[in-house]
Amino acid sequence: METHKQLSIGLFGFGVVGEGLYRVLQQTPSLKAEIKKVCIKNPEKKRNAPAELFTTHKEDLLFDENINVIVEVIDDANAAFEIITTALRNGKAVVSASKKMIAEHLPEILQLQQETGLPFLCESAACASIPVIRNLEEYYDNDLLHSIKAIVNGSTNFILTKMFEDKLDFSEALLLAQQLGFAESNPKLDVEGYDAVNKWSILLNHAYGIVQHPSNILFSGIQNIQLSDAIVAKEKQFEIKLVAQAKKLQDGKVAAFVLPQFVKHDDHLAFVKNEYNGVVIESGFADKQFFYGKGAGSFPTASAVLSDLSALRYNYRYEYKKLYHHTPHELHYDFHVKAYISFNDWKNVPKDKFEWIEEWHAGEERNYIIGVIHVKELYQKNWWKENGTSLILAPDPIIENVDIIKLKKRSLELAGIV
Ligand code: HSE
Repeated sequence: METHKQLSIGLFGFGVVGEGLYRVLQQTPSLKAEIKKVCIKNPEKKRNAPAELFTTHKEDLLFDENINVIVEVIDDANAAFEIITTALRNGKAVVSASKKMIAEHLPEILQLQQETGLPFLCESAACASIPVIRNLEEYYDNDLLHSIKAIVNGSTNFILTKMFEDKLDFSEALLLAQQLGFAESNPKLDVEGYDAVNKWSILLNHAYGIVQHPSNILFSGIQNIQLSDAIVAKEKQFEIKLVAQAKKLQDGKVAAFVLPQFVKHDDHLAFVKNEYNGVVIESGFADKQFFYGKGAGSFPTASAVLSDLSALRYNYRYEYKKLYHHTPHELHYDFHVKAYISFNDWKNVPKDKFEWIEEWHAGEERNYIIGVIHVKELYQKNWWKENGTSLILAPDPIIENVDIIKLKKRSLELAGIV
């Protein structure tokens, strides 16, 4: 029987995730993984671990021949990229939780893995405790994966739940998310959707072989959602969620975005509350599958790092099957979406850009429309994020054949039916 590899770990970062991993490893001696050194930025800070474990010199970890795995859980994307690059070039396997760094450097990280043949595992970088990356890598063949939609950011889901169910105001809900260790050190990354789109760019790679910088994916956070939007959602029996979505369209290209969305009460994602994340996969023969688990927090995130460490004992590495063994998919930029837009002033909304408008509402303080618009109108200009304007997608928002629907509408009009 093959004996498992002994793991000697150099850990970068001892914050929420790093300390979580330290505690989790203490409780799993069977893993035979030992943290040899921890590199930290601030030596003055009090740590709940023996002082001799810590250093401020990255070389103590990166050039120690006895360390065979570097675990990097810091939140400085540039420093993280330098660490993982040096580690791989020095023959060390890497486990990383740095979503921003991975999403922004995907091509270089792929190249480095090819050059060195070493594993780079990052299960904790998307949906924390849910094993979504390895599932997408191993289980779903390219052709079978019709769509994925997911809640990938715990903090924003927590804030939406606390605001609209527990009636906290935004700043109270955010503070709580920070205190519980869910939010990024710069919470703008969560609130404005950057963290979610970074995770989505990583997942698009493992799901469809797409390698795209997050700035090429349409996204927003929950920063513009207003109480009046929640009231409309309630009237229509919807929930508001920040949903990351990808759908293979008829020509094989993939429509993908991260935007607030109205979710029906019987949708799996409506069930996802607080810091939980959820992923709904639609595949060829299995129909729908739903993955659910904690998407932020110390132990849930550390559990995914632990699972990566365990996989390293068997020399597991991602094969990137969709990228290297199939024809990788491309992102689609030519489709329409149905969206609800609420706003203070009609002049801030380019009504003539909509294919058609299904609902108009003019209130004393807030107005809204629900209509169909081409995504290029959202990519080109940010009018839908500015001047207090809020965009929330309708359930099942993607419309592929807008011309056919227009023709149908026209013939119904001519027949006097509508
Ligand atoms: N800030 C992130 C979130 C942490 O709220 O989802 C987990 O990646």
